[in-house]
Amino acid sequence: MNVDRITVRGGKPLQGRIQMKGAKNLVTKAMVAALLGESPSELRSVPEISDVRVVQGLLELHGVSVERDGDTLRLDPANVRTAHETSINAHAGSSRIPILFCGPLLHQLGEAFIPDLGGCHIGDRPIDFHLEVLRTFGAVVEKLPSGIRMTAPNGLHGAKIELPYPSVGATEQVLLGAVRARGRTELKNAAVEPEILDLIAILQKMGAEIQVDTDRTIRIEGVDRLVGYSHTALFDRNETASWACAALATGGDVFLEGARQPEMTTFLNVFRKAGGAFEIEDDGIRFWHPGGDLKPVVVETDVHPGFMTDWQQPLVVALTKANGISIVHETVYEQRFGFTEALVEMGARIQIHTDCLGSHACRFGARNYQHSAVIAGPVELHGADVVVPDLRGGFSHLVAALTAEGTSRISNVGIIARGYERFIEKLETLGADFDVEG
Ligand code: EPZ
Repeated sequence: MNVDRITVRGGKPLQGRIQMKGAKNLVTKAMVAALLGESPSELRSVPEISDVRVVQGLLELHGVSVERDGDTLRLDPANVRTAHETSINAHAGSSRIPILFCGPLLHQLGEAFIPDLGGCHIGDRPIDFHLEVLRTFGAVVEKLPSGIRMTAPNGLHGAKIELPYPSVGATEQVLLGAVRARGRTELKNAAVEPEILDLIAILQKMGAEIQVDTDRTIRIEGVDRLVGYSHTALFDRNETASWACAALATGGDVFLEGARQPEMTTFLNVFRKAGGAFEIEDDGIRFWHPGGDLKPVVVETDVHPGFMTDWQQPLVVALTKANGISIVHETVYEQRFGFTEALVEMGARIQIHTDCLGSHACRFGARNYQHSAVIAGPVELHGADVVVPDLRGGFSHLVAALTAEGTSRISNVGIIARGYERFIEKLETLGADFDVEG
């Protein structure tokens, strides 16, 4: 369903059962990994989100056939070919995934082209780590007005790499490049998010040799050939945290089918500290507001196993209802509190500071970035007209509108469909009161 604007009448607790599918931040990378195989791959639990459609379009442009049957994708890379620059630019949209095509395309075709990269506007989001990794593997990188062109005249070779920060994308870049490179790769300061471990599981199924040490070091032994995989994607941890916070903020009770405890323990600790209740079942997790006051918390976002940066936005909405002062220190992205402006318009009492208000100073502290939020509660939010700025910020605006007194009009909600499968249907299932406009 293509929806641009939604009018929400707030005040109804969300109640019911909805399904969590595969993680956006794994599925899209798993689709790229299929490029590396000599035979077709099958990926299950693929959500219907626009980021998946963007990657599907890019794969098809490169000759990969992609068939969807329910929530299963079959990807066949038998006829991989070079795509035209202008079509790549037209298809990439605002996704950042194209950068991850580079390693596999350099292996398969000896060349790759990527457009100017988009993604959510939550900071500079540079790609310097990625380009450095590719150069270290032996790629020749050429910046053109239309994008970045790469070649690998002598193929890619393994290398010793140390990331300046445990970047998720750069770690994936190393994995997708190293598995078929000549010789060994040692990656230090790697990200070890569950989505990365699931990508490693997929690559291992394909025939790759990858070892993860306890100290964020990943060792990869390059192999000559890889085959297709068959895999059920890890559930979406970000979608899970978002709906859990929506239940807490609205005083609701939701069962999130497919959510699992082991990958959510850090979130669950904070959810409980804030006064939320949860129950773990074999087939999912129930999250609810048990009544009484919500409690303020102090949270610092971090790389895994820390509290994810993608969890703070809906949590901030719930914290406007907590009785006292909460602090959220964002240490992953330098500019991820832009979404709070709309919450303040809706009556929230939130101040953003450039100081590190957490237990440790982060790399943004001395650089004047507005990266710590102080949230005073409890407040009653009231309806407002809001324009969605980015994926997670947009979802938090939706949550705020659901808790608010009166009516809110939220525009640009299409962005939310980048990462939340059928969120309109899910809102209906959970009993929200709203109308949509195309
Ligand atoms: C992934 O982004 C996710 N996106 C993000 O989810 C998520 O917030 C992030 O990881 C952290 O978990 C996808 O998986 C598609 P990073 P990624 O490289 O890989 C800096 C969402 O809402 N950096 O770990 O792009 C960067 O600026 C999205 O689902 C460089 O400086 O994140 C940031 O400060 C948003 N140079 C930090 O590293 C680089 O070349 C971490 O970014 C790359 C990153």
